[in-house]
Amino acid sequence: MSIIDIITKKKNKEELTYEEIKYMVDGFINGEIKDYQMSSFLMAITINGMTLDETFNLTKVMIESGDIIDLSTIDGIKVDKHSTGGVGDKTTLVVAPLTASCGVPIAKMSGRGLGFTGGTIDKLESIKGFNTTINMDYFIKQVNDIKISLISQTGNLAPADKKIYALRDVTATTESIPLIASSIMSKKIASGADKIVLDVKVGKGAFMKTIDDAKELSKTMINIGKKFNKEVVAIVTNMNYPLGKTIGNGIEVKEAIDTLNCNGEERFTNLCLIIASYMVSLGKNISVEDAFDMVKEKLNNKEGYNKFLEFVKYQGGDINNIDICKNKYEVLSEKDGYITDIDTLKLAGFANDLGAGRKTKEDNINYGVGIILEKGINDYVNKDEVIGYVISDNIVDTKLLSDAFIISSEKIKEENIIFDIIK
Ligand code: URA
Repeated sequence: MSIIDIITKKKNKEELTYEEIKYMVDGFINGEIKDYQMSSFLMAITINGMTLDETFNLTKVMIESGDIIDLSTIDGIKVDKHSTGGVGDKTTLVVAPLTASCGVPIAKMSGRGLGFTGGTIDKLESIKGFNTTINMDYFIKQVNDIKISLISQTGNLAPADKKIYALRDVTATTESIPLIASSIMSKKIASGADKIVLDVKVGKGAFMKTIDDAKELSKTMINIGKKFNKEVVAIVTNMNYPLGKTIGNGIEVKEAIDTLNCNGEERFTNLCLIIASYMVSLGKNISVEDAFDMVKEKLNNKEGYNKFLEFVKYQGGDINNIDICKNKYEVLSEKDGYITDIDTLKLAGFANDLGAGRKTKEDNINYGVGIILEKGINDYVNKDEVIGYVISDNIVDTKLLSDAFIISSEKIKEENIIFDIIK
């Protein structure tokens, strides 16, 4: 087999075989195929796409490059959940305990964040003592004991994806749907769950900018799942605005706790209820309507909240000791009117500059910093009224943030938080 022939085949829009894809990926991992050759291959895929069979084969080869987690000793149907990434996305912290409190085992591996704010693991590490790196035997024991454990993804889960993703990041090949689908699904399938709910974010704060692209990505991931005998549901959700009222790490954990205590922002709470309902429906083989009633009850009677406390304690965390900076700096409205838009990426960039996220893999996170949104879309504000806060231990110039809130004389039609649900 020749590297140049394989790249040429993709350049000419021909379909690659499993063996050809394996040759490229394995060769890249062992160093025989150089960065510049892989970059050219990835660009040919980005421009010409891949058939479903090619995308499935790429996913398979990436799974085979590392460990496949065996969760078969956990009782029940294991349901995983994955978000394609959003600003202020603390959904897992709410839906995982809610779903577990309904009796569905959650044995979840999550990642750390790069860009925007931290990932789920970074958020959990803002809780003092919380251990995200427990070993596999203990992880499985915990799920059998209390139905839930969230740990950091092992380094050897789809290592080919890790190496390819690092190259995509610097060669303008991140936005290809087959590459994104195989990257996400290789890690999800290697993680060992039986069924998967995907939260596919679309909008200004997401890497999928149009609903059509988000639907295409969803369908591709569902079809890959089918070929691996895994049922997948994709929920296409609105990422034009930050999720909930906070962006940061410790502060997002606090918001997740408030949400589980029935004091969450309405739209965010509804999103969590819907995602958890699909997870429970898949895990218990019941209708989504029955699952919704069950999840709502677990929210209202605080069983979801109690499950969160139990899970944090089990993993060594002190719920009364979450890293959140003490100082609050006001963000003031520039004029009177209704908030009709929020520059989500600007807020995310500001939070990142404060230290809430990483610019490079090696950066340390500042768990305590963040942004609180006091006002949201269609709220009326007066000039100089507080619309948000920056929390930080260092003095911050919040004027830079005021213009992230667009204020107009008329309200706008509010957008749905869920655009579509695809099975
Ligand atoms: N998340 C992933 O894991 N991979 C991608 O390619 C994009 C988002």
